[in-house]
Amino acid sequence: MKNSYTEFIKRYPEYEATASIDDLRATDYSRIDRCGHVYLDYTGGGLYADSQVIKHQALLLDCVLGNPHSSNPTSQAATELMEKARSYVLRFFQAAPDEYDIVFTQNASGALKLVGESYPFSPSGHYLLTFDNHNSVNGIREFAHARGATVSYLPVTLPDLRVPDDLLEAALAKGNTFADNLFAYPAQSNFSSVKHPLEWIERAHTYGWDILLDAAAFAPTSLLDLSKHKPDFVPLSFYKMFGYPTGIGALIARRDKLHKLRRPWFAGGTITVASVQGDKYYFAEGHAAFEDGTVDYLNIPAVEIGLSHLESIGMELINQRVACLTGWLLENLVGMKHSTGVNLVRVYGPTDTVARGGAVTVNFFDRDGNSIDHRYIEELANRHGISLRTGCFCNPGAGEVALGISRVELDVCFSSPEHTQRLTLDDFRLCIDGKSSGAVRISVGMVTNFNDVQAFLGFSESLLN
Ligand SMILES: Cc1ncc(COP(=O)(O)O)c(C=O)c1O
Repeated sequence: MKNSYTEFIKRYPEYEATASIDDLRATDYSRIDRCGHVYLDYTGGGLYADSQVIKHQALLLDCVLGNPHSSNPTSQAATELMEKARSYVLRFFQAAPDEYDIVFTQNASGALKLVGESYPFSPSGHYLLTFDNHNSVNGIREFAHARGATVSYLPVTLPDLRVPDDLLEAALAKGNTFADNLFAYPAQSNFSSVKHPLEWIERAHTYGWDILLDAAAFAPTSLLDLSKHKPDFVPLSFYKMFGYPTGIGALIARRDKLHKLRRPWFAGGTITVASVQGDKYYFAEGHAAFEDGTVDYLNIPAVEIGLSHLESIGMELINQRVACLTGWLLENLVGMKHSTGVNLVRVYGPTDTVARGGAVTVNFFDRDGNSIDHRYIEELANRHGISLRTGCFCNPGAGEVALGISRVELDVCFSSPEHTQRLTLDDFRLCIDGKSSGAVRISVGMVTNFNDVQAFLGFSESLLN
């Protein structure tokens, strides 16, 4: 281990500058090692620091907070804390308050649903999305279909699972400038960890597209600077960024684009006036029109605590640390071969650290080159106290490309009479001829350390031969 660490530092000398995170791990996150966990599922969820919980608890024990929909003193106190958190989110993402607004939601999926159900899709409009979107972005196509808009997917290609530039250019050129067109892509794929260029935003704007930039997997380890890049809608989940609280996300939206959304219903808190006899309602301005009912006013102040925790560490430092550990993980995994010469793993996505995040998605192969079921790998990892993620991570498009599942196979499977209503995962595996329907994702995050990565590499080595 000592030798390996020396070699690691030789390869990634910039890692040493992140030593403050090791100190933090020993104090503010000591429960990880105390409980013997090797946590490698940061794309699934971030981990919180003890200090975040303590600060939040102190705030709750110090204040009396009432429902913000009233205007009594306890209600005003809650409103003040919520508005402070809202301003903090804007500041964190360097978003000008006159340009962007923050809608608090339950999670990134909640933010995506708000856009999907309210976007003015029409028969002359278009919903364009990359293959490697999360299902909560894919799901918006159902709203687009229902309103007769064209829906098209932009493929990602092997081996890196990036989008070829000529295909992007051709797709963007198809936007109808007289209609509403929405282009959705992940700033970082939760399957391949590819970071798609943020420069696409301005490029797509020039063709008249509105941009939905899914930042759920990107924001935990990279700073999204909204003074430089100006997407129209940005969904994210705070638990992915700093672990606590769960159940709160945001839709960061350009104010002018929020205006063009048409909500399909109204709810408590979203209107200025609604009448029963008059059968009429008037929406409130800005974020208020999108926050249905009573928001989570006790937990929203913990968002400010979490963001300030990230700032105290430094997003640049987090990014640098994650890049070093990911690079080491990748080069060691790629180098592992059985005595037969067969590679132990196949990586789906870039094998270097250029324009990629900290998730490494692979399948394992035995000495004869047969793929090892990802569910079996998970079972073994569980026994070693290693938390990772297996399956397709709600990202079927990237999975289909990576695992070589063809359109024809899918059409045959979905159109067979016994699959009109119901399809289990086992049925699906049979349909695709026993091919793997998923993979193993190891994701490195803010407080991952060298020992975590070594533990996983040691586990992988034990699968050789
Ligand atoms: C890229 C991406 N988008 C959206 C989501 C949905 O986030 P949530 O489940 O918090 O709504 C996820 C969750 O993993 C994700 O990784």
